[in-house]
Amino acid sequence: MNRNPHDKAKKKVLFVCLGNICRSPAAEGILRAIVAGHGDEARWEIDSAGIGDWHIGQLPDQRMRVHARRRGYDLTHHARQVRESDFDRFDLIIGMDSANIEDLRSLAPTPEAMAKIKPMAHWLRTIATRYDYIPDPYYEGAEGFELVLDLLQDACANLYADLTGR
Ligand code: 4NP
Repeated sequence: MNRNPHDKAKKKVLFVCLGNICRSPAAEGILRAIVAGHGDEARWEIDSAGIGDWHIGQLPDQRMRVHARRRGYDLTHHARQVRESDFDRFDLIIGMDSANIEDLRSLAPTPEAMAKIKPMAHWLRTIATRYDYIPDPYYEGAEGFELVLDLLQDACANLYADLTGR
């Protein structure tokens, strides 16, 4: 449902991971930075959410915030759980791994909603040969967080290019 006539031109993207404290808020922060770099904020709606409810209200994991900050990203999202109305509000609902995709499919209320679900790895280009999903860094060390940020920077740049033609 578009509440204002200019809304239709907006690109509305929701990133989803398991906890909404590592991968999806980082993807949100990275895409926001790319969009801001193009002065394009008014034309985008970007958010993130989790499959689970364990971390609702929390800022991203401290380790992810530290690693992201070093690359210039301030992650200020507060975790929330994905909800059925997200399938109306967003055009693209992007899961980080196959478990996220399966969980999203089981939540999708209609075939149209189902068609909005895509894997983040769809936009991986430079490191696509080694990864076909964004690995969960929660039980990993610093390298796991760095790897996730490398993958997300790659995918977000390609996602932005695909959706804008730039
Ligand atoms: P995320 O990482 O899905 O990238 O936010 C996780 C965060 C928390 C948990 C699992 C994954 N957890 O089990 O609490």
